[in-house]
Amino acid sequence: MKITITGTGYVGLVTGVCLSDVDHQITCYDIDQEKINLLNSGKSPIYEPGLDELIQKNISAGRLSFTADVKEAYSDADCIFIAVGTPPNEDGSANLTYIEKAAIEIAEHITKDCIVVTKSTVPVGTNEYIGRIIAERVPAGLTVKIVSNPEFLREGSAIHDTFHGDRIVIGSNDQEAGKVIADIYAPFKLPIVHTDIRSAEMIKYASNSFLALKISFINEIANLCEKVGGNIEHVAAGVGLDKRIGSKFLQAGIGFGGSCFPKDINALNHLANEYDYDFKILKSVIDVNRLQKERLFYKAKEAVGSLAGKKITILGLTFKPNTDDIRDAASLKLIQDLLMEDAVITVYDPVGMPNVEKLFGNKLQYAESAEKALEDAEATFILTEWDEIKNLSLEQVKRYMTKPILFDGRNCFTLEDAEKQGIQYYSIGRKAIV
Ligand SMILES: NC(=O)c1ccc[n+]([C@@H]2O[C@H](COP(=O)([O-])OP(=O)(O)OC[C@H]3O[C@@H](n4cnc5c(N)ncnc54)[C@H](O)[C@@H]3O)[C@@H](O)[C@H]2O)c1
Repeated sequence: MKITITGTGYVGLVTGVCLSDVDHQITCYDIDQEKINLLNSGKSPIYEPGLDELIQKNISAGRLSFTADVKEAYSDADCIFIAVGTPPNEDGSANLTYIEKAAIEIAEHITKDCIVVTKSTVPVGTNEYIGRIIAERVPAGLTVKIVSNPEFLREGSAIHDTFHGDRIVIGSNDQEAGKVIADIYAPFKLPIVHTDIRSAEMIKYASNSFLALKISFINEIANLCEKVGGNIEHVAAGVGLDKRIGSKFLQAGIGFGGSCFPKDINALNHLANEYDYDFKILKSVIDVNRLQKERLFYKAKEAVGSLAGKKITILGLTFKPNTDDIRDAASLKLIQDLLMEDAVITVYDPVGMPNVEKLFGNKLQYAESAEKALEDAEATFILTEWDEIKNLSLEQVKRYMTKPILFDGRNCFTLEDAEKQGIQYYSIGRKAIV
């Protein structure tokens, strides 16, 4: 079988590379020629641990190729996985422009029957829409079957998640097409959920929304802990040991970001509105998260007073560790708020700085290490729990800073350590050390 993957972003690239690693013949297609050039030289355009090595291995084995040529991508594909972006529109709905364009290009360039598989996260009903776009344009005599196959990998552990995911969801209204896709994934030996197309689309949104709900819930418990006097770390540990609840996604912090959770829950809320359903919990999850992202900033204003002219350091810019993705990261909102206050901002992140620099240019200073960023700082925010940030010693932190005031959005340090070092320490869901 000749398999084409459309879109070489976080999902398409990892999927293509992992499928080639289990002996499939994969062509990855992207409209971005620069990305394709980089990939053809064996380099990944995104930061994902282990990806470069796997790309080089499978190019050398002759199982993996990259192209920006639409004809080459589709003309004799048996199966096409669509993994293009579905970013949010202003009103929260999913922007399907890239999906539509991909569907049109597929219809115009295929030369034989094929299966089109949607990996992108798309609202319920979109796969049927893709089917209609293709059916209206495809040359007479060709049959295209549609399968929904939403993706659950996490950036930062995407390769592991692809090989060891919890499940593969295959939504198809045609049994045979569903079986072909299941066979492609068979070497991964993962549980497969076969369902209809609309249910598959819903599984993705329901999963992400439930995880986001867990985060917003624990953040609210954390906020209450601060008021009533409790320690969220202990509370979450005690709650998480209950197997019905589980300990994952119970880390209180500065709210969720990234390219998926915010956009997906907004898109589900938008879908609910379209169907005249008032999804109350989801709206609260969105609200809680918006407020949570501002909490540290307001704590800083309260503790420090005016931030104008103050030298403020931000450690960690990506929405989570082990990725260079800054989409909807808490750092972006904080930077904007601090700039509005005329603070003088120095940032450090192990891999996220080039992406932040594209947005903020010379409005910020970019340090070459966490230590350098801390030099002379009058207050420091911790926004991403990279190992190298978590492993800083508070003794060192205190030594570098002019005033040792820390606003830790990821609870990286113990209260005892902060107290021992004489650091003014504000974290999430725990008492402030002043
Ligand atoms: N990033 C994640 O962790 C993740 C996880 C699960 C699901 N998803 C979903 O997967 C989809 C892709 O997400 P991503 O983060 O990989 O996106 P991305 O923005 O990183 O990559 C999309 C790629 O598609 C390419 N592209 C756009 N139009 C194209 C076309 N017509 N033909 C070929 N290539 C085209 C772009 O150039 C880009 O390289 C989204 O729907 C997202 O919600 C993402």
